[in-house]
Amino acid sequence: MQPGPAGANRQRGGTVHGNAPFSTFPTPAPRSMTVLHIAAEMAPLAKVGGLADVVGALPDALAAIGVQSSVLMPLYGGPDGEVAQRAGPLTESASGHVTYGGQTLGYTVFRATDAEGADVYLLHQPEHFGSGGAYFDVGNVPFANADDRFPAFQLCALDWLATALAGTDRQPDVLHLHDHHTGLIPALAAHDGRFAALRDTPTVFTIHSADHQGWAPWHVWEKTGASVPDAHTFQQNGDTLNAMRAALRFADRITTVSPTYAQELQASDEMAHGLADAFRQRAESFSGIVNGVDGADWDPSTDRLLPATYSADDLAGKAETKRAVCAELGLDPSRPLVTFVGRLTREKGAEILKGLVWRLLDETDAAFALLGSGAPEHEDGLRHLDHHAASTGRRDRLSVTLAFDNALAHRLYAAGDLFLMPSRSEPCGLGQLYAMAYGTPPVVHAVGGLRDTVIPWDGREGTGFTFDAFTEDAAAHATRAALAVAADEASYCTLQQNAMAADHSWAASAERYAALYREAVR
Ligand code: GLC
Repeated sequence: MQPGPAGANRQRGGTVHGNAPFSTFPTPAPRSMTVLHIAAEMAPLAKVGGLADVVGALPDALAAIGVQSSVLMPLYGGPDGEVAQRAGPLTESASGHVTYGGQTLGYTVFRATDAEGADVYLLHQPEHFGSGGAYFDVGNVPFANADDRFPAFQLCALDWLATALAGTDRQPDVLHLHDHHTGLIPALAAHDGRFAALRDTPTVFTIHSADHQGWAPWHVWEKTGASVPDAHTFQQNGDTLNAMRAALRFADRITTVSPTYAQELQASDEMAHGLADAFRQRAESFSGIVNGVDGADWDPSTDRLLPATYSADDLAGKAETKRAVCAELGLDPSRPLVTFVGRLTREKGAEILKGLVWRLLDETDAAFALLGSGAPEHEDGLRHLDHHAASTGRRDRLSVTLAFDNALAHRLYAAGDLFLMPSRSEPCGLGQLYAMAYGTPPVVHAVGGLRDTVIPWDGREGTGFTFDAFTEDAAAHATRAALAVAADEASYCTLQQNAMAADHSWAASAERYAALYREAVR
């Protein structure tokens, strides 16, 4: 256990060691630092994207180095919903109410524990989270009160922190906030009299993606009833609330999930969606920390979702997995297999994916297995591609699964000879990390975290393949080069060993967050 910083206990007048008489009594260990993560997603309770993986894994990685962390998330679907069922037994921890837009909103906070023993708090607020999932209501339709949901959640969260937790030994030393769903908290904690108990609690705000910033009509901000100086500075176009801008202005420390993405957000308004100036203004408090891989879920030697497990020393299980997956998907197992797993969105490169695979079906002899769901136009594009392959006699070279299927995702990371990740932008990216861990060298657009984590193969060193221009041409060229290496057994073997040996565990990143918390507390 690593002792907490001297200032960690300042709000509850922590133990004073200096006055202890010189004796043989052991000095009581200082209470370790505690961090509360607040987020819209956490795996495995509610997962839409990589945010959930990070919030699911980081608290345990922090606990391993002596930083106690817990998580607060909305209880989507209420106490009888799926999230509650996944969470297991819930204990009621506190309840309260806030006023939002003149309406009184009651809330209840339940406590559960995750697999590693970290506390998970689930906030039940029936009017905003009583039904549906994280971002869509039952039937995948937008929520009628979509704009109000996360502002209401944040008010309840702050009320809980300021009333139920303040002054107890569960009051966090640091609030670690993730993405725009929590972007209003730094301003409200620091400046709103209702939450005065939180005034000195430092906030760290992490951007997992700047593609969504919590835009809402300005009256949503007014409904919070908050009085914050300079609130107009997080207005956009005079009439829109931008929650991420609010966080950039008021959070004590700002991070994103890779150093390159941190640069890109400051350099390009296209990447930052209009916030580049705000990122530059906070340059001194802004850094990039890459995500890690949760070894409990993503280790080919223990992965129970695979038909056969394997390790770098013995890859027989990988070959077996490829055979099983090819049989399952109707693909020719004698061909090199290129896999893709991802959301079908503009950011993930869905626009070039269809054209790229179409071309590669002509230009190479590889087979392709694609898994993803997302924007209807991209799903239609891949359906079209699938028909095209079937109607040109190449049924055994392409499989398209338009779904979110975690178990199949694991099998595809393992079964592939290469993994395709042509993201237009990528804050960190987890797919390439999983692929490398599973001995499937990735072919990636050299952007954001992909640039920081995939070392281009140079004939001896490297863990994958990169291309610089975001074009079908560049991606096709890189994939052909990768297939040529895959055909050369000696080179491919070295490449694969390099990819599997690369350390992408959470340990190093957790240390960097811990250092940041200590800095913020100081
Ligand atoms: C988002 C980003 C992805 C990142 C993940 C976790 O999903 O798009 O790049 O890895 O968040 O931080």
